[in-house]
Amino acid sequence: MSALNSLHQQNVVIVGGTSGLGRAIAQAAKNAGAIVTVLGRSASTHEGITGISADITDASSLGQAFASIGPIQHLVLTSGARVGSPKLPALSEEELQLAFSVKVFGYVKAVQVALPYLAADASVTLTSGILARKPGPGGLLKSMVNASVEAMGKNLAKELAPRRVNVVSPGVIDTELWGAPGSDARNAVMEKVAPGLPVGRVGQPGEVAQVYLMAMQNGFINGTVLDVEGGGLL
Ligand SMILES: NC(=O)c1ccc[n+]([C@@H]2O[C@H](COP(=O)([O-])OP(=O)(O)OC[C@H]3O[C@@H](n4cnc5c(N)ncnc54)[C@H](OP(=O)(O)O)[C@@H]3O)[C@@H](O)[C@H]2O)c1
Repeated sequence: MSALNSLHQQNVVIVGGTSGLGRAIAQAAKNAGAIVTVLGRSASTHEGITGISADITDASSLGQAFASIGPIQHLVLTSGARVGSPKLPALSEEELQLAFSVKVFGYVKAVQVALPYLAADASVTLTSGILARKPGPGGLLKSMVNASVEAMGKNLAKELAPRRVNVVSPGVIDTELWGAPGSDARNAVMEKVAPGLPVGRVGQPGEVAQVYLMAMQNGFINGTVLDVEGGGLL
């Protein structure tokens, strides 16, 4: 039996849905007929997407948010702190704490608090990043954080079965993570990275959103890491 799940009238919750990839996933899920709720510190309700203000490092704010949503068919985590790429001598305790508290401890906390609300056939999709498996100078912090998320995804796929748990690992995607739209800083990153990729360009949020939707809808994708990086891992 094939299991392609329709998102129509399904509760899709995106922690980190207020910006970048999360916002693109929210829009794509809404277009597919889902009832979409985004969580984030700056979340607000607009354009048919419910926003609930919550901090992924704070279990009680997550708890209140999940309790107000009810049964969740698809949980997506895209939150990530905007940290830099310091080499070892410049890596500060504050940056380490921030990156791990949002993306590693925060992801564990979010799935833990959501668990009572996750449907028996729910999907959970986490977000890592290309640096998890692409080491290089300055990549230490993001490598460690994203590799942890990938390990988390595989373990949770076993522990939360028959719910499915997957990880999407983006390469460089043109989002607010790199700066305000049109800013010199953001343009500089995109222009620097694009020629080094086999596809000759960076990714767009909508291209990555499509892969999250596939992870939600395809009932046989489980316990895996889906790379969306234009060939950047080659
Ligand atoms: N864009 C890329 O090139 C790229 C590459 C590899 C991996 N990634 C990963 O993809 C994910 C999404 O990146 P993005 O490009 O969409 O970044 P972004 O535009 O900076 O979005 C980050 C999101 O994280 C949320 N967030 C940060 N701290 C939070 C907290 N304490 N509690 C709740 N939410 C919090 C933000 O919401 P609030 O500010 O409203 O809280 C925002 O919605 C991140 O995990 C990132 O590491 C991105």
